[in-house]
Formats: sequence, structure tokens, C-alpha cells
Amino acid sequence: MSRTVFYTAATLDGFLADEHDSLAWLFKQEIDESGPMSYGEFIAGVGAGCLGWTTYDWVLDHEQGRWSYPDLPMWLFTHREVEPVPGVTVARGDVRPVHAAMVEAAAGKDVWVVGGGDLAAQFAEAGLLDRVMVSVAPVTLGAGRPLLPRPFDLRLDAVARNGAFACLEYDVVGPLTT
Ligand SMILES: NC(=O)c1ccc[n+]([C@@H]2O[C@H](COP(=O)([O-])OP(=O)(O)OC[C@H]3O[C@@H](n4cnc5c(N)ncnc54)[C@H](OP(=O)(O)O)[C@@H]3O)[C@@H](O)[C@H]2O)c1
Repeated sequence: MSRTVFYTAATLDGFLADEHDSLAWLFKQEIDESGPMSYGEFIAGVGAGCLGWTTYDWVLDHEQGRWSYPDLPMWLFTHREVEPVPGVTVARGDVRPVHAAMVEAAAGKDVWVVGGGDLAAQFAEAGLLDRVMVSVAPVTLGAGRPLLPRPFDLRLDAVARNGAFACLEYDVVGPLTT
């Protein structure tokens, strides 16, 4: 059965990127590409995904205009009038109909919420985010783009080490209760 997963890397103080959308803190870290929670193993189980405008723009810019996910149906959340790269569908507003379309496209594989954090929170608020998989880098930024900018309860399911990273897997329980 398809799960909807926010798979990402973050700093110890919970940021996906710095205030200028730089990931320099991430790419300098030591990692075993075939180790726990590796990208290769994760992406092999993914059948569709979505991302917000800033992340889409960053990916294209970082790869000099080349699209990193040509074989994956992707949905781009933005309010802008844009002509996305082939394989990417523009979406806006309510995440629920997009989620249904992603699950259908994924055909039993997982759905990847690439980011950012607010988009992942929109899925969690709609009760549509099953899992958070985060590789925590041994660095703090003090400010930047937050991992999950709203309050949720999660259940720790797995812990591993990959190089410099603490690899954490959580089930999403729901809105934070006290
Ligand atoms: N560490 C990692 O592994 C990792 C993973 C993912 C991302 N990142 C980085 O983290 C940063 C995330 O940036 P971000 O926090 O700005 O988040 P983002 O989700 O990438 O972009 C936010 C934008 O997405 C659009 N959006 C989001 N929800 C929408 C909705 N429901 N309907 C229409 N448009 C919607 C809006 O764009 P409009 O301007 O069009 O309104 C919003 O301003 C980026 O620098 C990215 O590269 C890092």
C-alpha cells in the first residue's frame, strides 16, 4: 500500500536550508550512499512526488536546468503562472485532490513529499502524511527554512547512523496534543 513520506535532510536545529536556500551545510557531510536510509533505496520505492516552488526552483538551478526526476510523475505547488518541465504538473491550494492523483500515479509505490516544510505540514494537517524520514546533519544554522513549521505529534519508529547523519524515521500521529 502506498505511503506518503516526507523524506529529507535537516540540521540539528530543524532547518531544511539556510535563509538564502543554501544546502552547503548538507553537501559537506560524510555519507555512505548504500547505508541506512540512503536516497537510492528510498527512491526505488517511490512512484510519485510533489514539491513547492522554492524547492523546484532550487533543484533546477542546482542542476543547471536539468530535471532530476524525469521518470517520476511530480506535482509542483505554486501560485505562479509557469510552464514546468515535462512530467511535472502545476497544482495549487488544497493538497487533497493532488494527493489522490499522486497515489493513483504511484500505483502502490510510495508518494514522496520532497518539501519544503510548510507543504509537508499541509499534508500532515489534512491527515495525509504517513511518515517523516529525516537525516539529521551535525550542524546548526540558527535560522532558515523550517523542517515542519507547525505542531504535530510523531512516533519514533527507527534510528540508525549513516556517516555523519542520524537517520530518524517517524510515523505521523496527528496534530500535537498536550
Ligand atoms: N534539506 C533537504 O533535503 C531539503 C529538502 C527539500 C527542500 N529543501 C530546501 O528547503 C527550502 C524550502 O523552501 P520553502 O520553505 O520556501 O518551501 P517550498 O515548499 O519549496 O516553497 C514554498 C512555496 O511553494 C508554493 N506553495 C506551497 N504550498 C502551496 C499551495 N498549497 N498552493 C500553491 N503554492 C504553494 C508557494 O509558492 P508561490 O511563491 O508560488 O506562492 C510557496 O511560497 C528550499 O531552499 C529547498 O531547496 C531542502
